[in-house]
Amino acid sequence: MTLPDVAKIPYGGDYNPEQWPEDVWKDDYRLFDAARIDTVTVGVFTWGLTQPGPGVYDFSTLDRIVERAVVEGRQICLATGTGAHPAWMARAHPDVTRVDFSGRRHRFGQRHNSCPNSPTYRRLATELARRVAQRYARTPGLVAWHVNNEYGGACYCELCAANFRLWLRERYGSLDALNAAWYTTFWSHTFTEWGQIEPPSALTEHWRGPDHTAFQGITLDYLRFMSDAMLANFVDEKAAIRESSPDTPVTTNFMGMYRPIDYHRWAEHLDFASWDNYPPDDRSAARMALTHDLIRGLKGGQPFWLMEQTPSVTACRDVNPLKRPGVLRLWSWQAVAHGADAVLFFQMRAGRGASEKYHGAVIGHAGRSDTRVFTEVAELGAELARLGGVTLGARTPARVAVLFDWDSWWALEISDGPSRLVRYQQVILAYHRALWDAGIDVDVVPVTADLTGYDVVLAPALHMVKDDLAARLAEVAQQGGTVLGTYLSGRVDENDQAFLADVPGPLAPLMGIRIDEWDAREADVVNPVTLAADGARSVVSAATLLFELVIPQGAEVIGTYQADFYAGTPAVTRNRFGAGEGWYVAAGLDQAGVNWVVRRILDRHGLLGPYAHVPDLESAVRVAPDGTRIRFLLNHGEEPVELPACAAGVDLLTGERVTAGAPLRLDRYGVLVLREDA
Ligand code: GLA
Ligand code: ZN
Repeated sequence: MTLPDVAKIPYGGDYNPEQWPEDVWKDDYRLFDAARIDTVTVGVFTWGLTQPGPGVYDFSTLDRIVERAVVEGRQICLATGTGAHPAWMARAHPDVTRVDFSGRRHRFGQRHNSCPNSPTYRRLATELARRVAQRYARTPGLVAWHVNNEYGGACYCELCAANFRLWLRERYGSLDALNAAWYTTFWSHTFTEWGQIEPPSALTEHWRGPDHTAFQGITLDYLRFMSDAMLANFVDEKAAIRESSPDTPVTTNFMGMYRPIDYHRWAEHLDFASWDNYPPDDRSAARMALTHDLIRGLKGGQPFWLMEQTPSVTACRDVNPLKRPGVLRLWSWQAVAHGADAVLFFQMRAGRGASEKYHGAVIGHAGRSDTRVFTEVAELGAELARLGGVTLGARTPARVAVLFDWDSWWALEISDGPSRLVRYQQVILAYHRALWDAGIDVDVVPVTADLTGYDVVLAPALHMVKDDLAARLAEVAQQGGTVLGTYLSGRVDENDQAFLADVPGPLAPLMGIRIDEWDAREADVVNPVTLAADGARSVVSAATLLFELVIPQGAEVIGTYQADFYAGTPAVTRNRFGAGEGWYVAAGLDQAGVNWVVRRILDRHGLLGPYAHVPDLESAVRVAPDGTRIRFLLNHGEEPVELPACAAGVDLLTGERVTAGAPLRLDRYGVLVLREDA
């Protein structure tokens, strides 16, 4: 089972009519019609209504919500509603609440607040999912199940501690193996009974917060365990749904680059991936591109759903900027360009009270259809209707992969030394951004992915190298491909223990280098790195944060430090390996430097995109199941651009023919969707 069965990109989103009187519901649908909203996600936070007390179920409100949607002919994405437990449950069963990192037992309040290892929570959440599925499985228009909501956070209660110990027994088999993996001879930590093991928290191994731990191995395993514990909650609910709904695809909405949950370990359990796109600011085009690519990579390149985005503003940040005119459209098409097969909003109508009353919505408090935001939503609805089903199931023809690895992310950021300033996402972002700037399609994949089909594999900040990954990367180069590694890669094994070898450990032969020393400096310390190769215009990159001292073992020097006692020594190298190359970037190059390196690599494979030299212009391709190529051009810039069409075809948003080489104009935030001629 894969994606929901739909005829066009579903358009709509989170709809919570339980929050307002029923006589408003008909207005809602009148407005949905006007905006061509065909899909509603309902029931996300309805546990308090559907189970008002122990053993008492009351589906009357949800029945009316679902019936209304059916009468109105909408597609339904139905939530199990377990994202927030009811007040009576917390009162009657305090074990459903969480204990936080500081050891405080929480009481009823907020949402996303249940202990994943509470047997009460697990039993009741599963039972609710079972009943919801039994009741609504045969609802006309039901296209997807939405389990829970944005799983996340962590719990440190006694139940979690007990399950952690079981998880560890399963993983290590014996205390000897656990002691070895956690390196417990350090600081007198040898465990002689399973019961001595505590969750790593402010009361135990941590100081200064969740990233500062005395034992990386323990903290790393707790992160893995917590991610697995929440996955078990998802799996419980999914199994309960499957008892009465064998065919409708099941998902849960992810949060993009969300550190606490290893989405790669979850992915196989979802029928399709979905995520909620709330970028931290309005200058995040490259970051969103990366995140879409990451989510598409969860299911081997299968399209995903954009489950939520705001049409206008968020409410949870200290400052919540408004999406400029055209941005809602631009970012929606960006999602589609990167593999989204649904465009959904949070939320359809603004609630009156509580913490999201100022959150943007398709319909505001006044219920008007003549607002700018509603008008833009309706215009996009018309465009998506015009597009029809041509992009459904279309894949991204990427020749380049970026490795993304939660274990490396965790290990890097909970490490004492070399530098707290090196942030995993920033490193990944810089390299992905260089690819994005060059206008090429990129898969962001787990370290377990099959890499043999790629010409180029970038492995930024691959701190932890597990299993046969080094051999598989070497194979890419052996066969003629290019592999790039950066500083702080190849440092530790899966238990976060340093390799007893030259840095970068198992990547050293591929890179043809050796590193004995490294220097971490405050953010304002720049060491200029000159970059030169292949007659390309050389540049000087302002490198910061981390400087590894490279001793070539066969690699050629491409970049050189200009300052400090290591001036004149290599900062960037290239190693011929088999028919291909291994590149190593030993310093935190600035974006211009990263772009320069990445473009040398893309050049070697003839992979620069057709508009690689047009700033702020994004280009992405999807290939439909019947082979049709659809190119998306997105102008993220403030100014219009004119460019020659890179292919002949049909502009799917206007229906006009485009001839190759003819001038194309993209307005500020403009979008072109071109079905290229075969
Ligand atoms: C998340 C949640 C929604 C809502 C939005 C607001 O994505 O899933 O319930 O709170 O954020 O931005
Ligand atoms: Zn717990």
